[in-house]
Formats: sequence, structure tokens, C-alpha cells
Amino acid sequence: MAELKVTQSKDLTRVERVGAHSHIRGLGLDDTFEARNVSQGMVGQKAARRAAGIILQLIREGKIAGRAVLLAGQPGTGKTAIAMGMAKALGEETPFAMMAGSEIFSLEMSKTEALTQAFRKAIGVRIKEETELIEGEVVEVQIDRPAVAGAASKTGKLTLKTTEMETVYDLGAKMIESLGKEKVQSGDVIAIDKASGKITKLGRSFARSRDYDAMGPQTKFVQCPDGELQKRKEVVHVVTLHEIDVINSRKQGFLALFAGDTGEIRCEVREQIDSKVAEWREEGKADIVPGVLFIDEVHMLDIECFSFLNRALENEMAPILVVATNRGITRIRGTNYKSPHGIPIDLLDRLLIISTTPYSEEEIRKILDIRCEEEDVEMSEDARDLLTKIGHETSLRYAICLITAAALACAKRKGKEVEIEDISRVYSLFIDVKRSTQFLMEYQEQFMFNEVQEDDEAKAIG
Ligand SMILES: Nc1ncnc2c1ncn2[C@@H]1O[C@H](COP(=O)(O)OP(=O)(O)O)[C@@H](O)[C@H]1O
Ligand SMILES: [Mg+2]
Repeated sequence: MAELKVTQSKDLTRVERVGAHSHIRGLGLDDTFEARNVSQGMVGQKAARRAAGIILQLIREGKIAGRAVLLAGQPGTGKTAIAMGMAKALGEETPFAMMAGSEIFSLEMSKTEALTQAFRKAIGVRIKEETELIEGEVVEVQIDRPAVAGAASKTGKLTLKTTEMETVYDLGAKMIESLGKEKVQSGDVIAIDKASGKITKLGRSFARSRDYDAMGPQTKFVQCPDGELQKRKEVVHVVTLHEIDVINSRKQGFLALFAGDTGEIRCEVREQIDSKVAEWREEGKADIVPGVLFIDEVHMLDIECFSFLNRALENEMAPILVVATNRGITRIRGTNYKSPHGIPIDLLDRLLIISTTPYSEEEIRKILDIRCEEEDVEMSEDARDLLTKIGHETSLRYAICLITAAALACAKRKGKEVEIEDISRVYSLFIDVKRSTQFLMEYQEQFMFNEVQEDDEAKAIG
């Protein structure tokens, strides 16, 4: 099961611009799950962070598969931020899949297929494999010049040694190519996977540390391996059920993982995979690693999706479901019934609810400081005070948006530091919701769809 390809797909997602939550590096908890005031990019919201930390611990102990958590609170109180913090704290091995409730409405696949894929992205399979390796220090790489120029297949010899033995291996064209790609030279310690032919450079042999000058400072030195050249090693890797589905379905195979264009996956494929995984588990070759599925803006799901979630949570291989919403009592999509958070009572009943509360001025100030640093923006104390006030009176998110805009205004006037004047300039250029609403009230006849509707659809908490 393509280990290499899977790690590559993870690397791709790590290439990230400065996004709305890029400053969040964890939940900022200490060993006793107490939330530190400011830590790992997280500020305040201590009770919710602590609760999220306890959920994490339960996940780590494998205690609560198939449970669900609801993050509820006003817009801009850090619900998504806390979910991102959970993802970071879980680390690389535990799968974390996230989607917005609205993402299930697509023409390419049915709602249930979209949800099934999301669930399977959040379930990992830890696979143990015994592989045969050849591990040794390169004594010599010798490539024969083809007798006729451009002759099809190159041949050569590779001499490897351990502290106890030395062997010469014949090389085919493919091995020569991968040796070239990895820039293997004599003095390198390498491992060759016998099944796949994959070559991994483990480092330079200590015996060669004298040639240090010729190498970069990053060069890693390792001992020349001892014992036999051929070794059996257990390798462990985690892939998600979704990755296994895609790799094994249809023609595109794993390439679809990069394109994100997976289409619908036939249920026979999934059935086969599930029974294969069950077999591996019985044989002790694999474990299930329940991860986290985070569905943001969960009120966008409709009654069919909620019913699917209810069922899916009962599956033996269910992940932890974390959902978030900023809605109060509102209509459940696809019905005429109202319910808290727009979530049906039977699902609500399963949820542990974590609520988030608005930030104090001091906390807003701290979050803005962190964002300034994250965006590499220099800002004067006065300007920070003003921005904090704006954040307190309008919204945190609006204030965060103004940082970037004010930095541009500052650059335009060739200033070094964002000053009050830059903040007030962008404050007048970009209006916040309150002012926008007031403006709409005054001029509403001039806009499209101008009836003011009875607001029963979307009422935020508070
Ligand atoms: N406690 C916090 N610590 C640091 N940054 C936060 C915190 N809460 C919110 N933020 C940041 O403020 C912005 C708005 O928060 P967000 O999580 O999107 O709110 P919500 O999802 O509740 O509407 C985001 O950029 C987020 O990263
Ligand atoms: Mg959010």
C-alpha cells in the first residue's frame, strides 16, 4: 500500500499561506489539561479549550469512538480555531478531516457519498508490514559505459558493506536510475527496500566525516551498519480508509488523491476493503486509528444528512465527530421544524456540547498581537489600542481583516509602522456589519431583494 504516495499527499496540504488560523499551533494546554493564558497561538476561551483537551485525551486513549462533540457559540468566538487546535495537537498520525456543512451540496456526488468519504478520511488504518531491506555503506558505485552509445539498458555494480561483510550487487537500469536520483555516492549509508526497490539515504558514514568540508552543514552522519546486509524490519504507516478506497478504485488510482477528483466510489470496492481490513486486524497486521471528522457550519446540513450521521456514528469504525455552529433555535434544513442549533433532537442527544463565549478587550488585544506577528505587520501601540477597540465594538474577525488592509495603507504612504491614521483610513474604506446594516436600513429601496424578511432562518445565538 503505497506508503510514499500517501506521505506525499500529506506534504501537499502542508504548503499553506498565512490563513485565518495559521497562528494556531495547538490547544495551549499544560500537562493537567489546564489552559495556559496564551500558548500555541491560543488566547483565552479557557473552559472550551480545556474541554477540547479532555476530548483529545479520550481520543488518544481510544475510548470514545463514535462520539460527537458540538462547539456552539457566537460568530468569531474561536470555534473553528479550537477545532484547528485539536487537529494540530493530535499530530500527524491521527487523521483529521474537515469540511463545511455546505460542501455536501455538489453536483458531482450525492450527499451521502460526500459524507461517507468524509467519514472515511477520518479513519486511519495503522498497517504493520515486514519488509526485507538491504542496509549498508556504499563502497563503490560502478556504472558500465554502454558499448554502443545510447544502448537501451545500462548495467553496473554496487558494492555495499557492513562492519562484518561486503557484497557486490548487479544493477539493472531501474536501480541505476534511482541511485542517480538519490545522488548516492560511496560513503553513503543506504537502505534498499527489496520489494519495491526504493532507496533511502540514511546518512553519511562516520568514517567519511573528514570530507566534511565538501558537504553541507546539514549532512547527517551515521554508523556503518553491523551484522548481515539483508535485514527484516517492521515498518508501520497510517493510511486512511478513504486513501485505500481511492487507490483501489477505478482507473485513476492514487493520482486522484492529488487532483481531489475522486468521484463516487462503488460500494463493492468499500465492502472489499472493509473485509480486507477486518482480516488484517484479525491477523494482527493492522489496527484502526479513529480520527476526527470536523464539520463546520453544521446547520447547513439537512435532515437526510443528520439521519446519516446518526447511523454512521454507530458503526464500529466510526471516528470522533466534531461539529460547530453559531445558530440558536432555528429551522432544521429540509423540514419545517425548529430545533436548538438547527440539529434534530436525536442527534443533539448524542452530542457533548462545548460552548464558546465572547472575548474580553484584553483577549482581543492579545489575539490581534498574535495576528500582527503572524502577518509580519509592525504596528504602533496607539494603533493596536484603536484596533482593539474596533474589534470589541464590531467583531474580532473584522479587526483581524483590517490588519492586512492597514498594512497595505501603511506601505502605500511608505510608512514603517502601521499608525492610527492607517487604521482609521481602512476603517472608513471598509465598513463593518453594524455600519453596513445601518446603511442598508437607510437605503434599502435601492437594493435588490429589498423586502426585510422576518428573521426566522438565521438567528445567531444572543
Ligand atoms: N482563542 C483564540 N486564540 C487565538 N486566535 C483566535 C481565538 N479565537 C479566535 N481566534 C481567531 O479569530 C478569528 C475568528 O475565529 P473563528 O475560529 O473563525 O470563529 P468562529 O469559528 O467561532 O466563528 C480566526 O482567525 C481565529 O483563528
Ligand atoms: Mg467558524
